[in-house]
Amino acid sequence: MNILLIGSGGRENALAWKMAQSHQCDEIFIAPGNPGTAEFGTNLPIDINAFDALKKAAIEHQIEMIVVGPEEPLVKGIYDFFNDDPLTAHINIIGPSAKAAQLEGSKAFSKHFMQRHQIPTASYAEFTLENYEQGLAYISAHALPIVLKADGLAAGKGVIIATTHQEALTSFKEMLQDKQFGAASDKVVIEQFLEGIEVSVFALTDGTNYKIIGHAKDYKRIGEGDTGLNTGGMGCVSPVPFMDAAFMAKVNAQIVEPTIKGIQQEGLVYKGFVFFGLMNCQGEPYVIEYNCRLGDPETEVILPRLQTDLVSLLAAADNGTLEDVNIQYHEQFFATVMAVSGGYPGSYQKNFPIQGIELAQKLPDSLVFQAGTGFQENTIVTKGGRVLTVTSQGKDLQQAVQKAQKALSTIQFEGMYFRKDIGYEFA
Ligand code: AMP
Ligand code: GLY
Repeated sequence: MNILLIGSGGRENALAWKMAQSHQCDEIFIAPGNPGTAEFGTNLPIDINAFDALKKAAIEHQIEMIVVGPEEPLVKGIYDFFNDDPLTAHINIIGPSAKAAQLEGSKAFSKHFMQRHQIPTASYAEFTLENYEQGLAYISAHALPIVLKADGLAAGKGVIIATTHQEALTSFKEMLQDKQFGAASDKVVIEQFLEGIEVSVFALTDGTNYKIIGHAKDYKRIGEGDTGLNTGGMGCVSPVPFMDAAFMAKVNAQIVEPTIKGIQQEGLVYKGFVFFGLMNCQGEPYVIEYNCRLGDPETEVILPRLQTDLVSLLAAADNGTLEDVNIQYHEQFFATVMAVSGGYPGSYQKNFPIQGIELAQKLPDSLVFQAGTGFQENTIVTKGGRVLTVTSQGKDLQQAVQKAQKALSTIQFEGMYFRKDIGYEFA
């Protein structure tokens, strides 16, 4: 079959790499893709939110499956757009309906959902301009640190962890009164701070059945030892040593199963990936957030670790046979290390030529996935903050990380930076 993949990051490069291995896959088209995805298919210069242009391309290229990488088109209703149109209703769209995507698109929606289904999460309250004064009082009486979240999508910047009441009150005002994130902060969720270790769990569901397809630990801070500003993710490891059978059984029973049951009971149309952002609080899992897509860079470790054919898995989610699929993992350990532009996550320069990608790709046990890259006169240049990632496998996490760093040392671009301590707690 022909597949249309939507997105242009390292996640999409990993998805294209994995899907291209399937005997069920004929051609892959990527909108808009990057030089890395172009190795596995045809990039189409179409924006991820240009639904009409995507529809035209889907018809022209006889697409039978659409895999949506990022959350924005999902929250904007790409599933419904294709599903409601007789010309495209036959296409297997991997991604939830707009209503179900509110699990990521609205923090308040997801908190209500968790409350309705008794899914463990931080205690919370929500405020708008209408109960602003109550919000101020709530914050002032709340234990520290305190977490403030803009309700809507805010490009990963809508969460503030305040260590003083003054900081929290200022953020609260900025979000609600100054409309810091536009309509996304018309409502603010205020949450208890959960202390623990974060881990991401990924499932594929058809709205009734589900399969766990992997898990990973993401390193979000720019600096070594988890210091400095938050980023989109600087590296990941999988499997995570504390995700043993006993902990996974709790995650399944207390979180994944009730979530999928809740989706089914509420009649939410959901065929796609569920990303459970969890906190392991002294052995007990809590949900920090749901995302309605795969993570980036989590995808870059979970897909190389997954042995099962991905296209067959996605087809099974469409034809009601997900329950019969056997999920298999490679026995080795995987790590991905992200190389970023100097200055990221603050301001940075672009368009620097990148050398050494081909050399790194030739190393055993390592894969290069491109993220913020582009072509400039047949040369691959930097186009974003997170530029590329190397995923390596080894007999343990330490060896996997070492191999990824070695492969990265063959790659150069001006200002290139990567963390050398990914997986440090497990060394
Ligand atoms: P989110 O945008 O919901 O992923 O939040 C961004 C990050 O903020 C998460 O990955 C966590 O590291 C942190 N975070 C969010 N909510 C909480 C919480 N209730 N307690 C502790 N950390 C949190
Ligand atoms: N790496 C976190 C995310 O994709 O949201």
